Amino acid sequence: MPDLSSSQPVAADVVIAFIGAGNMARSLIAGMRSQGLPGRQLRVADPFAAVREALARDTGAVAAASNAEAVAGARVIVLAVKPQVMAQVCRELVPALTGDPVIVSVAAGIDSAQLDAWLGGDRAVVRAMPNTPALLRAGATGLFANARCSTDDRALAGQLMAAVGNTVWIQDEDLMDVVTAVSGSGPAYFLRLIEAMQTAAVERGLSPEAARQLVLQTAFGAARMALESDESAGELRQRVTSPGGTTAAAMDMFSQRQFEDLVDAAIGAAHERGQQLRQQARETEGSQRQ
Ligand SMILES: NC(=O)c1ccc[n+]([C@@H]2O[C@H](COP(=O)([O-])OP(=O)(O)OC[C@H]3O[C@@H](n4cnc5c(N)ncnc54)[C@H](OP(=O)(O)O)[C@@H]3O)[C@@H](O)[C@H]2O)c1
Repeated sequence: MPDLSSSQPVAADVVIAFIGAGNMARSLIAGMRSQGLPGRQLRVADPFAAVREALARDTGAVAAASNAEAVAGARVIVLAVKPQVMAQVCRELVPALTGDPVIVSVAAGIDSAQLDAWLGGDRAVVRAMPNTPALLRAGATGLFANARCSTDDRALAGQLMAAVGNTVWIQDEDLMDVVTAVSGSGPAYFLRLIEAMQTAAVERGLSPEAARQLVLQTAFGAARMALESDESAGELRQRVTSPGGTTAAAMDMFSQRQFEDLVDAAIGAAHERGQQLRQQARETEGSQRQ
């Protein structure tokens, strides 16, 4: 599916309401503001007045006294609360929902059918799986829209998440668990490689600061090369690996120690754990309802 995220500016009559004024809401609001969206089109609710007012003051968004006040007439409703409180937040919102808003959840592991049921059914729901670099507007977000979403709903949700990084639409919701295992948990994998490289550099005599600078800039440069090139990561790697050279020696060791198998098993473990956690959350929710 084409990414419609940046195809057109958000219309002047569109109000985006954020439920929860935490880290993710702050990044999304700051991202939308930096793209020129007026603060009056962004509303934010949070149980703590000081929290919502600080976010409003810092970003120019409008603080709403309650979740119901925030969503009144909103075209987009962003559920930016922790997964544990999501069911309650959704159920309490139902009487306040008017019109036909698109509801975007950034909570990990809660599927669109669950959200739709908590929201009273027949709702346009988009599930977004951002990762932590979204807080620096360098995130990678997988997006899934349920069948109820219109083209406009998808475009609005895409634009919202594009304010904090790159977006990829996923057609099959089951694959959101793979997104979680790859990009949701992924920053930690790269950070672990960075850590290991720094340790190896220090063990061989570099100062911790020199190791840090060299490894971090190398990680950044490699990602930038891959992002900006038309060649695949594999092609780029081969181009920087001269036969018989130092890089080739390291690559041979990666192969001998079955690096690809290790990465595949690690992502497999994250995928499986995500599925288990989702199942457990469903069972807990089911038992609480009985
Ligand atoms: N941060 C990330 O990098 C990241 C990445 C991917 C996905 N996410 C997802 O994004 C969501 C938000 O994460 P976050 O890091 O922004 O969390 P957060 O900083 O804890 O923000 C959530 C905010 O919602 C408030 N809240 C709690 N109950 C509420 C209610 N009934 N109505 C309105 N607001 C309520 C919380 O208040 P209290 O603190 O007083 O409870 C808090 O201010 C989570 O579901 C998380 O899984 C976050």
